[in-house]
Amino acid sequence: MLEDTSFAIHPGKEKRDGAITYTDIGNLVGYEKDAAGYMFNCTNGFVALQVFTDSIVRLTMNPTNKPVLDKSKAVMVRPEPVEIEEINTEHALTLKTKALVLTLQKEPFRVTVADTHGRVLVNEDGHGMAYRENGEVIAFKQMHENDHFYGFGEKSGHLDKRGEKLEMWNTDVYAPHNPETKALYESIPYFMTLRDGKAHGIFFDNTFKTYFDLQSSEAHYSFSAEGGQLDYYVLAGPHPKKVLEQYTYLTGRMPLPPKWSLGYHQSRYSYETEAEVRELAQNFIEKDIPVDVIHLDIHYMNGYRVFTFDKEKFPNPDQLIADLKEMGIRIVPIVDPGVKKDAEYPIYQEGVLGDHFCKYIEGDIYNGEVWPGVSAFPDFTEEKVRKWWGEKHAFYTSMGIEGIWNDMNEPAVFNESKTMDLEVMHRNDGHPTTHRELHNVYGLLMGQATYEGMKENLQGKRPFLLTRAGYAGVQRYGSVWTGDNRSFWEHLQMSLPMVMNLGLSGVPFTGPDVGGFAHDTNAELLTRWMQVGAFTPFFRNHSAIGFRYQEPWQFGEKYEAIMKKYIQMRYQWMPQLYSLFYQASEQGLSVMRPLLMEYPDDAKTYNLNDQFMLGDNVIFAPILNPSVTDRAVYLPKGDWVEYTTGTTYEGEQAHLVHAELEDLPIFVRKGTALMQTEWTSNQDKETKTLTMKVFASDNENYSFTFYDDDGETFAYENGEYLKMAFDIQSSADKVEINVVSKEGNYQPAYKEIRIELFCLDKTVLVNGKNSSIINL
Ligand code: NOJ
Repeated sequence: MLEDTSFAIHPGKEKRDGAITYTDIGNLVGYEKDAAGYMFNCTNGFVALQVFTDSIVRLTMNPTNKPVLDKSKAVMVRPEPVEIEEINTEHALTLKTKALVLTLQKEPFRVTVADTHGRVLVNEDGHGMAYRENGEVIAFKQMHENDHFYGFGEKSGHLDKRGEKLEMWNTDVYAPHNPETKALYESIPYFMTLRDGKAHGIFFDNTFKTYFDLQSSEAHYSFSAEGGQLDYYVLAGPHPKKVLEQYTYLTGRMPLPPKWSLGYHQSRYSYETEAEVRELAQNFIEKDIPVDVIHLDIHYMNGYRVFTFDKEKFPNPDQLIADLKEMGIRIVPIVDPGVKKDAEYPIYQEGVLGDHFCKYIEGDIYNGEVWPGVSAFPDFTEEKVRKWWGEKHAFYTSMGIEGIWNDMNEPAVFNESKTMDLEVMHRNDGHPTTHRELHNVYGLLMGQATYEGMKENLQGKRPFLLTRAGYAGVQRYGSVWTGDNRSFWEHLQMSLPMVMNLGLSGVPFTGPDVGGFAHDTNAELLTRWMQVGAFTPFFRNHSAIGFRYQEPWQFGEKYEAIMKKYIQMRYQWMPQLYSLFYQASEQGLSVMRPLLMEYPDDAKTYNLNDQFMLGDNVIFAPILNPSVTDRAVYLPKGDWVEYTTGTTYEGEQAHLVHAELEDLPIFVRKGTALMQTEWTSNQDKETKTLTMKVFASDNENYSFTFYDDDGETFAYENGEYLKMAFDIQSSADKVEINVVSKEGNYQPAYKEIRIELFCLDKTVLVNGKNSSIINL
């Protein structure tokens, strides 16, 4: 442990390594073209080029063989037929689509991707694609003076990652998440570059440990992997929203989650007995605090054996689940991948006899220690294993469970390396591959097995999945929480850029453990955190064994009342939130957004870490420090109305805003609208009233889409939904609200939309007639 002391910086330790030398891809020798795309033969390797759409191009470098193009675990689509204009000269081959111009310089082989207006997105200066003897592959790209970098999945630190070095290696990090923590539980080797108001993206689809160096040089940045091919996609943008649409076009979008999963979740490691869970639920009912989900952490199981309940602590789980459902509360149990090595445990028996566990090449099952002691791990890289695992979830669904929490699926193992031996050989559907290459997708594939199994078992109801580990594309199966944070103000602060960058990485349904997992929370921190949590996409209060309990009532009535108010607000905002989730499922856009996503031309938003947006018209500026009741808020272009006070603020400047403990500053852009409801009780969370709050201005036009459905089934896929596009035109004396379109057969409980005009006294016209109601 000397490395934890000043010895770590002992002067005698400094080593000056010689510069690392790479083999450059060399010169272009010749090329072929077929239906799959272009294949370039270079002096030191091969490069394949595929044009996926007019705006997405893929480059794959393989030092020794022609690249393999069909092994992605993330990309869900194949190249579309795209018209390409080709110009071949002595020095370069130029390929043009409707949106991109690719210049392939021949000697040495260098790639420039520009748009059709001459804007360079990605180019290589002195260096290009290269590799080393040890299998490392690397791409160097020129770094431009005004480049800002976002995304990278789940990372600590600030929003803009320029000046950082990051790693992708799914890791169980219980020790505090610091700004210098390079790898956490999720690996999403994707980023978006914003330069002078225009954005483009790079998705580096490599499942080995990958590295992103935005620090070592001001002239170029690099991305590299410990093995595999240099396989990356350039996405043209140019708006940040377009980049996200392009990225999620490749890796998939989140299916609509069940509405109940957007409510408030209460969790603890652990509520240990049935009696404790009943008492907890009863407390919520008596205190009239809305809650949709109670999570069961590892203590519910018999000796931590997945797919079991401890019969003494939980004598009648079926009844518990049914009773809680009556109260409007669902149970979500944790399921880890480690299966206890126990010859008398049916799941272990099935796993061994059915050949479902990860093995060494010689045939021995890999064993690692996790909560149940020595355990085996399902080989989720194999379809038949995913199916087996999925089917096992009938154990839960037969009890009425509709959601599962996947934890420890990096996979985490209690040993020095924190994970499985890298030489474990996954079967990988007939393409045996070591854990070294597939480590980063283990959690993704466990998520797939769980989601698909639950979906099958639930017969038409939407499953909910919460997962800790994942890879690019994880949004197809579940929501993600940011793991073992602590009850530090710094971790509340850090959670904002973390969730915003996850959103920019295609994962819209995320949130941290509200209140902090480890360490003891306190009344003020918990209250401020609940205010933020009420507006993050995933809203769960979770705390660790050995630390203070942090349910909303643990710190007395004053704090309880404030927390209750914000949990209730979560439900009042549900129609707005759900419409944003619909947008995420259709276009891949994030629910919680950094300001730069809506205001890419405003440099003041480029590293704004302590404010966030919901959708395109609301800014939240929470208090993130102890004993603080004033803060600076930067508001971009437009006029902004504070939601509670009605005070108007001018945009393109910073304001000092006051917020007592019960206050959360929320700013709605003038000229826009919000859809809200009144929440009634735990038993009945149906939207019975619907209000359109219009924050009228004097000369603004705003269009938005409201979406609703039964929130529970897949009937929406057959037209059972309500989708309304609105247009709101504010002028000096009136507000004109027009229903531009109305689609779907869903018949909601509410029969009208009431219009509430915020702040201003103006005439309201609905479809040209004086009215304050939109009839459905
Ligand atoms: C680690 C998870 O991150 C945490 O949320 C959970 O409570 C513990 N495992 C115990 O299951």
